[in-house]
Amino acid sequence: MRVSLSLERSYSNDLAIMIDALRASTTITSALQSFDSIIPVKTIEKAVHLAGELDATLAGERGGAKIEGFHVGNSPVDVQNFGGDVLVLTTTNGTRVLEGMKAKVLIGSFINAAAVAMKAVELADEHIELVMAGVNGKFVIEDFLGAGEIISCIKIHQEDLEMDEMALAALMASSDKNMVNDAVKGSESAAGLLALGFEEDIEFSLKRNIYDTIPIYKNGVIKSLK
Ligand code: MLT
Repeated sequence: MRVSLSLERSYSNDLAIMIDALRASTTITSALQSFDSIIPVKTIEKAVHLAGELDATLAGERGGAKIEGFHVGNSPVDVQNFGGDVLVLTTTNGTRVLEGMKAKVLIGSFINAAAVAMKAVELADEHIELVMAGVNGKFVIEDFLGAGEIISCIKIHQEDLEMDEMALAALMASSDKNMVNDAVKGSESAAGLLALGFEEDIEFSLKRNIYDTIPIYKNGVIKSLK
């Protein structure tokens, strides 16, 4: 099995895992505990229109803050106060990156790394691509380390991995849990979230494998495979 790591763009036609650890991937996984499906959309206008049409709950952020008039922000903790058939979600990076992906797409984070890794090994023909959402095209450490966590779980099921150098670097960087936690908490993204009062989201996003939910993105909709 071949494992590669890329930033923002997906190149695979096989199996890809989108990672936006702070916070879109984590929010999606958390929301699937109480919603049947999630529709990720790029713009606020489209989100509002769609939510009206479907009588859906409306979630999203811009600059990390909840969008005015929306039920909830892109918060994995706050979204747990809501539930229903459909959640329409718009975020700055995670939902935009999903739109460009053409492989079978799973969504991974620290909170579901083990389950997603196991399913990826099962679904991939010969290539698992991890796609870091980043922030506006820029590398961010939390997605890199989240990818490393998932790769370490993939390795449990598939010892014989051919990794590209980015994937190998992520695997090595994620081996010390305390260092990972400190790096994510000290990241630029975390600083932005702290300033907005989302400390709980950071702590929650760093929990390991609290869910075995496997979000899959297909035909514009995210559902749980489990
Ligand atoms: C995003 O998708 O841009 C991020 O998840 C932003 C955030 O933390 O809300």
